[in-house]
Amino acid sequence: MARVNPNYSKLKAGYLFPEIGRRVRAFQAENPQAKIIRMGIGDVVLPIPEAVRIAMHKAVDEVGTIAGFRGYGPEQGYDFLRDAIAADYKAKGAQVEASEIFVSDGSKCDTGNIQELFAGDATIALTDPVYPVYVDTNVMAGRTGEIGADGRYAGIQYLAMNAENKFVAPLPSVAPEVIYLCSPNNPTGTGMNRQELTNWVEYAQKNNAIILFDSAYEAYIQDASLPRSIYEIPGARKVAIEFRSFSKTAGFTGIRCGYTVIPHELEGIGPDGSKVSLHTMWNRRHSTKFNGTSYPVQRGAEATFSAEGKEQVRAMVGYYLENARLMRTGLQSMGFEVYGGENAPYIWMKVPKGYDSWSFFDSLLKNVQVVGTPGAGFGPSGEGYFRLSAFALRETVHEALGRMSKVFPLR
Ligand code: MLT
Repeated sequence: MARVNPNYSKLKAGYLFPEIGRRVRAFQAENPQAKIIRMGIGDVVLPIPEAVRIAMHKAVDEVGTIAGFRGYGPEQGYDFLRDAIAADYKAKGAQVEASEIFVSDGSKCDTGNIQELFAGDATIALTDPVYPVYVDTNVMAGRTGEIGADGRYAGIQYLAMNAENKFVAPLPSVAPEVIYLCSPNNPTGTGMNRQELTNWVEYAQKNNAIILFDSAYEAYIQDASLPRSIYEIPGARKVAIEFRSFSKTAGFTGIRCGYTVIPHELEGIGPDGSKVSLHTMWNRRHSTKFNGTSYPVQRGAEATFSAEGKEQVRAMVGYYLENARLMRTGLQSMGFEVYGGENAPYIWMKVPKGYDSWSFFDSLLKNVQVVGTPGAGFGPSGEGYFRLSAFALRETVHEALGRMSKVFPLR
């Protein structure tokens, strides 16, 4: 029999969101009448913007003709979309060339796959709590040892973020080769300001580290002191890769489109000690393992940068942020300690005394049929916290708050 990748056996039982899904299905099977409200996984609910829908329709009609038909597209993405993305970066004060952009089917895949570019024993640091994809893909690749009783994999440097340090991760005590950062942060819903991000860029410069910067939630930034892109920070082009997505910005969680930026000057070290372009490596990987995002989807993504598209995206983001505001104030008035939700679509709250994050999950599901995400699912420092997603219809938010306030009476 074929021997399997032994690293998979190190993984915690299941990926976080399927595990939540399993518990919710089990509850629903036992309670078929229950009307469950899902605020666990951050999945959008509003329809795609009209400009996107029109552009995708047009593209489908085009490929339905001999003259307009398209087969394989460029693996890196069509120029029309790469140019639109580069122009948007420029307009917002960051220098990114179209040729540095790799269009993909979403940033979950990109943030999961990027670790392939680094040595099998490259050292990793990440903030904790964290988007589980960063951890699990490094476990799969064999960059870690076993998971300890403290919930940490041996070989990964965990940088704890909690209410005590205002969710600002400390710089690593031992310099790693690769650092994962996410801002605005999933799951804590907090964002790094310019000075904090500058500290990271300077740290990476000093220690020859590469920052993998996930800015999938940049569209939610309202506070002008928070950078939207790491490339707004001087020197970042030599130390950082950035990931972005249309999922949470324009309702593409099911349509699938994201992109990764790798500046031409970003380098790592090859086995013979020579400098190697990470852009060249990713291009090799992308064109070997990926055949490009579909043409209608890329036309839809392009439409988000049109005047109407921008306006419609702004309205959509504003709708979810208003949900987040209602959730913040509603939960606060029930006495919860609440974070995030101002520059991100996630509310991060402390669980009440007497609960841990999974028992609070079970209790909310059982008593009010509201599903959130237990903080411990995002890493050991997430224990004691709980995440609620603001991606919901307004009436769902009101209903969820109403149900919760019956168990946690308003003060
Ligand atoms: C989340 O809920 O953390 C995200 O929706 C997951 C993802 O983007 O893959």
